Amino acid sequence: MSVTSFRITPNTEPTSAGDRAAILADPGFGRFFTDHMVHVRWSASGGWETGEVRPYGPLSLDPATAALHYGQTVFEGIKAYRHPDGSVWTFRPERNAERLRASARRLALPEPDTGTFLEALEALVRQDVDWVPTPQHHGAESSLYLRPFMIASEPFLGVRPSRTVDFHVIACPTAAYFAGGVKPVRIWLSSHYTRAAPGGTGAAKCGGNYAASLAAQQEASAHDCEQVVFLDASEHRWVEELGGMNVCFVFDNERLVTPPVSGTILEGVTRASLLELAADAGLSVEERPVSIGEWIEAADSGALTEVFACGTAAVVTPIGELVTEERTIACGDSDGGTVGPMLRRALLDLQYGHRRDERGWMTRLA
Ligand code: COI
Repeated sequence: MSVTSFRITPNTEPTSAGDRAAILADPGFGRFFTDHMVHVRWSASGGWETGEVRPYGPLSLDPATAALHYGQTVFEGIKAYRHPDGSVWTFRPERNAERLRASARRLALPEPDTGTFLEALEALVRQDVDWVPTPQHHGAESSLYLRPFMIASEPFLGVRPSRTVDFHVIACPTAAYFAGGVKPVRIWLSSHYTRAAPGGTGAAKCGGNYAASLAAQQEASAHDCEQVVFLDASEHRWVEELGGMNVCFVFDNERLVTPPVSGTILEGVTRASLLELAADAGLSVEERPVSIGEWIEAADSGALTEVFACGTAAVVTPIGELVTEERTIACGDSDGGTVGPMLRRALLDLQYGHRRDERGWMTRLA
């Protein structure tokens, strides 16, 4: 994709300032969307067309649209943060652009370039800048969640890569991902289902991975758990990731351990960033396989001082309990520990402009 500017068609019936303020006061996650969206079309014959920012609204899709049948879709998650001076920034967007391209390759979709990906975010955020929460709106930790996605839009039922593809970006103001806020969550251990197998799509951010997690997620809900953790497909022994986020362990308050990105788990931008922030803070950092046996034994012995989920939406959320078919295992300090909260603070301080951006991780959008 190499479009250089987006056509802007303003929404003539935008949300009123009063309604927007009410939404920003209690946005939840993924429930309310801004007034505009980005759209860029690709075709096998003509490549990428000029992108547009247009009023947010339903897509009109032929019932034979390939994405609806064969799941040829990929997406991203990234946030825009309001800084104290009113400017709006995003975090390591080139990483998301790179991951979107990797996901697109795996799903046989065309690859948007980083410049256009960034331009699309910027165009949307500038148009809907009043939707980026300020600290007054909903505490200090609300942001605008941006959801770039691509769908196979050709109406055709043969199984082959679509010859037309639509790239969109939509945006929703967001507070904490979990309904209870940043409180320790309970995690269900899925013993029947796996999320991804070697050679499959586990490392791609594609709808199918999330669809495949939902039956296990239903089991989790039935056991009063907020998320599910998956083990590897071959041995059913190694911890991979949760339904929608990566997982980190802290041993003896000083060693941060997380499963390696080996092709079956998503390469989280938050995950990678926390590993660097942890090393800065003097923790030892290990990317290595963690078995479910090690998790349970270390929790029982007290060596496991914290477990937390991490991702763009989840940020850093403590995991209080692991629930299996046999028993419930308390994971580390009941108050959520110290390492996860420290890393969470360091990350948020950077993202919200309260800490110097020494690595050049932030990009200004508006
Ligand atoms: C994100 O963290 O951005 C995700 O895509 C995960 C999903 C739970 C919303």
